[in-house]
Amino acid sequence: MIGSVRIELATVDSTNKHAADLLRLTEVQHGTVILAHEQTQGRGQRDRSWHSEPGLDLTFSVVLRPAGLAAGHQFVLAQFAALAVRDALLRSGLQDVQVKWPNDVLVGPRKVAGILIQNELQGGLVRHAVVGIGLNVNSSGAVEGALATSVRLELGRPADREALLCLLLDRLELRWRQAQGHRPGLEADYREALWGRGRWLTMELDGALVEARPLEVDGDGRLLVELAGGGVAPFGLDRLRFGPR
Ligand code: BTN
Repeated sequence: MIGSVRIELATVDSTNKHAADLLRLTEVQHGTVILAHEQTQGRGQRDRSWHSEPGLDLTFSVVLRPAGLAAGHQFVLAQFAALAVRDALLRSGLQDVQVKWPNDVLVGPRKVAGILIQNELQGGLVRHAVVGIGLNVNSSGAVEGALATSVRLELGRPADREALLCLLLDRLELRWRQAQGHRPGLEADYREALWGRGRWLTMELDGALVEARPLEVDGDGRLLVELAGGGVAPFGLDRLRFGPR
């Protein structure tokens, strides 16, 4: 089960990197959680860094060994993780929690959690995955230039980090089972949680700003959008990004 093995570190460069190092050295059990109270070189998506406040936020990685998950279906990992984080936040009393494609978790317009998934592929399958989750819990979540928030700011009082972690691990386990057995449910929930769905937004397509309306995500994890210029088409992160807000 996710979280039955927990490795807790006072400080580490990055829990995702630590997980990858362990996977190179030894057989890491499915569901192992590597948690750090401080990350000195937290990694974010697109080679960015991830900043969290030592002892105040949650930074951890989960090692998964999916049975027979085809590389072409790996987006299910993003769906499972983002929905589990959303579930835990809703159950903690936060409202208006949505998933910004592919896997940022927002409260209203502000980012409260980021997810970095690193997969190792072998023979067309995902051999193992490292799902890194950074959740702003009791910090201000502030990163220069970014629209961010934290659980404390949203609730108006400090949150119990350990209780939140336990809730999150439970939801990860539940969503993981759903991902393995009942994908349509997971996909429908992801669509339902999709930030900006049905709204005209300024997006960046091949480097140019366009008006587009997110509709849903296809099986390959591409965002299906309606373009103001006409037409509906799916795009991957290589071509489409959310533009400046
Ligand atoms: C993002 O850019 O939104 C993804 C941020 C992911 C941060 C988490 S914190 C735990 C894990 N270890 C890392 O170095 N990154 C992820």
